[in-house]
Amino acid sequence: MRGRLVAGASLALIVLAATILILTGVVDAGNVGAAVRGVFSSSAGGRGGGLLSGPEAAHSWSEAERGIIASLSLDRLPPLPPDPSNAYGDSPDAAALGHALFFDSGLSPDGTVACSTCHQPQSYFSDGKALANVRDSDTPRHTPTIVGIAYSDWFYWDGRKDSQWAQALAPQEAAIEHGGTRTAHARYVLEKFGSQYEAVFGPAPDLSDRSRFPPDAAPVEDERRLAAWEGMTEADRGAINRVFANIGKSIAAYSRRILPGRSRFDDYAAAALVNDRKRMAELFSAEEAEGLRLFIGEGQCTDCHNGPLFTNGTFHNIGLPLPEGSRFDQGRSLGTLQVVEDVFNCLGEFSDAGEEACVELRFIKLEGEELIGAFKVPGLRSVAETAPYMHNGIFPDLEAVMRHYNHAPPAFPGHSDLVPLAFTEGQSEAVIAFLLTLSAPPDAPAEFLRPPANQE
Ligand code: HEC
Ligand code: HEC
Repeated sequence: MRGRLVAGASLALIVLAATILILTGVVDAGNVGAAVRGVFSSSAGGRGGGLLSGPEAAHSWSEAERGIIASLSLDRLPPLPPDPSNAYGDSPDAAALGHALFFDSGLSPDGTVACSTCHQPQSYFSDGKALANVRDSDTPRHTPTIVGIAYSDWFYWDGRKDSQWAQALAPQEAAIEHGGTRTAHARYVLEKFGSQYEAVFGPAPDLSDRSRFPPDAAPVEDERRLAAWEGMTEADRGAINRVFANIGKSIAAYSRRILPGRSRFDDYAAAALVNDRKRMAELFSAEEAEGLRLFIGEGQCTDCHNGPLFTNGTFHNIGLPLPEGSRFDQGRSLGTLQVVEDVFNCLGEFSDAGEEACVELRFIKLEGEELIGAFKVPGLRSVAETAPYMHNGIFPDLEAVMRHYNHAPPAFPGHSDLVPLAFTEGQSEAVIAFLLTLSAPPDAPAEFLRPPANQE
């Protein structure tokens, strides 16, 4: 009761002081709102700094706010968890093979496309294009980064894969990506990397009989390739699938080790944790701190972009506009159906996980309006390096992203999970200034950030 009286009295004083400041023209009315909010958020936790002035004022946080900031820090990222579906995930030899394959355009029939064509190390493992594009044709989606992706439960914008190794198989056969087939890739890898392969995965099958193992066979749309695949015996298809799965497992052993590096924000979070305002003021400008305040506060960004990777790992429809001439993208509502059907999923015969380890897949949510047009919440570390933005690459820059969050139009079809923010231009700019503090080169063994020496 007494606390409330004191708070009431100080509110009266603040309002009085604010009125005087406005009347005397020291502050405009908009800024007073921010100042009053600042005072309240700092007193809410009980140990805030009250009315600070000078360069450190922007860095006055309540205890609750300091807790939220710390929860976003890389210091809170747990060690990379093992992937029970990939017994080779932490094998350095598997990673060395995967490293070679990631940069090897031999995994495409015309020798022009490798994983690194689209996931370019110098572009934070993205490609700078609105939509991924090879051989002059666009794919329907934007290339996301793969940095830190090993912490995800689901892969692709719609989560149609449930492991990194199963994901790595799909582009190899997608006509609009590598465009190859599993028999061709199994043969290519065993011919070129046979001893490396056997050192990791044990004896490889003999694929020399081309009547049993046709050069181009795969369960894909192309009729010739499909017929060749269906003409094989079940046992031979199994042998090919096993090699194909192992190719994915080695690529995953490599790519799972590419993690986000420590950014200026992480140093700020460490200073915030111990409430060292002097250090905070050295690390962040007042604008960057305001951006962080809006990000965790009024902007409600942390409803979805939370934890050390700035993603809650789930799927949301945020009512994005469609690129001209494109059709509505179902997103998660189709991705769920695809992942449960996938022979390479966690419960399938090529997975090394026991059923009990496949919790995400076993308890997957398959129905609900919220899945329609929903896409995976992307992490925001080094987001400045991965423009254009969103699954459909619709926004060229962060200004355009902020305009969307400010207006938040309703989604059609489906339901948008956003509420319009109506930030001022200055507030939007502050949020962007904060997002830029999340940039840092990936944390990975240096040799992993370029092709293996003999491949350059
Ligand atoms: C033609 C460009 C292209 C090539 C080649 C390519 N990717 Fe991708 N990658 C993409 C696009 C586009 C997406 C998003 C597709 C989607 O969500 O439907 C993606 C998604 C991913 C994801 C999921 C990331 C996430 O956030 O869930 C991973 C991991 C990945 N690719 C790894 C690879 C690997 C490994 C290879 C090589 C075997 C590869 N990619 C080849 C363009 C490419
Ligand atoms: C309701 C959940 C939700 C909230 C709240 C939210 N986001 Fe997002 N954000 C998403 C989803 C989902 C995507 C990807 C959407 C897509 O591609 O369809 C996304 C994408 C982004 C991207 C693009 C990243 C990329 O690599 O393409 C940025 C930047 C971003 N959000 C920043 C913010 C900021 C800043 C806020 C607060 C003002 C915020 N988000 C609030 C869910 C959310």
